[in-house]
Amino acid sequence: MPQRQLDWSNLGFEYIRTDACLRADFTNGKWGELAACADPMFSIHAAAVCLHYGQACFEGLKAFRRKDGSAALFRPHENAKRMADTARRVMMEPPPLELFIDAVKKTVALNMDWVPPYGTGASFYVRPLLIGTSPRVGVGPASEYSLFSLGMPVGPYYKNGFFPVKACIQELYDRAAPLGVGNVKVAGNYAAGMYGDFEGKHKGYPICLYLDSACHRYIDEFGTSNFFGITKDDRYVTPDSGSILPSITNRSLQTIAESMGLKVERRKIDIEELPDFKEIGACGTAAVITPVYSVTRGDKVYTFGKENEAGETLTRLFKEIQGIQYGELEDKYGWMLPVGKD
Ligand SMILES: Cc1ncc(COP(=O)(O)O)c(C=O)c1O
Repeated sequence: MPQRQLDWSNLGFEYIRTDACLRADFTNGKWGELAACADPMFSIHAAAVCLHYGQACFEGLKAFRRKDGSAALFRPHENAKRMADTARRVMMEPPPLELFIDAVKKTVALNMDWVPPYGTGASFYVRPLLIGTSPRVGVGPASEYSLFSLGMPVGPYYKNGFFPVKACIQELYDRAAPLGVGNVKVAGNYAAGMYGDFEGKHKGYPICLYLDSACHRYIDEFGTSNFFGITKDDRYVTPDSGSILPSITNRSLQTIAESMGLKVERRKIDIEELPDFKEIGACGTAAVITPVYSVTRGDKVYTFGKENEAGETLTRLFKEIQGIQYGELEDKYGWMLPVGKD
């Protein structure tokens, strides 16, 4: 059992300093050893490429304390592959898969006392970061990189957890261009989305939905999560778009939906199709599933199900994925990677 005394059931989604973070450096054309450090502070050259030209990317994944007391990471190999894809897209040095896995496993193992107890609804969030560190004035890729991995206990991303929220369509600002970098996890995407997301929040909408930036006709994704909907005739429909992040949660939910007998469709979704849905969800590592009660576009408000209660299909999907994550249900897809104290 964890020795830390925290109010586990009331954690937010905020940075907390834990015991150890991991670091590996790429210098002279090769990756060095992974090292643990207690201090998350480090020094950096003021001309580092990550600071000027945005060679920075990250990942987000979770470890869960399971019913039997053990801890396990959810699909870390998928995050490793996505970080490598991101790195290649912006000409950074991709960390080898084994290095990434070693880093995230050790982030959990060395902070085991911070992994929240089973039954609290909390989890341990792992944040790997890759940055180009060498100095450079002309635009071009760095020759040196650092991979960090830190982790902390978190509660639900949205204060109320699995409870419907109101969304708005953000059309004043786009977050990703077609053929741009919306399909990878570069840090700059989040700066690009901040103004739009905050503008939506200011109007009372916790999440914003973005449309394709070429013609504002097709659904792309929410600011930090994928869009999926359940149609009135029980199909799981999610956008096929080159400018959205390939969500690991979404892919996992599609597998579960298929196993429940739902037909899964990945295709362009015209915004005019919104009335065909009976349930809408935002999905991602942080909140897993956020049910969406309404989507506002100008004067139009589309509603889905009940204002105070998640729909039946989203609830089933949520219970199934969380059941696997918390070790209550059989891990029949082999998604969980156990992490020991070693
Ligand atoms: C823009 C964006 N879309 C979708 C997701 C969900 O992806 P995942 O399920 O892999 O966390 C995230 C979170 O990482 C995100 O930042």
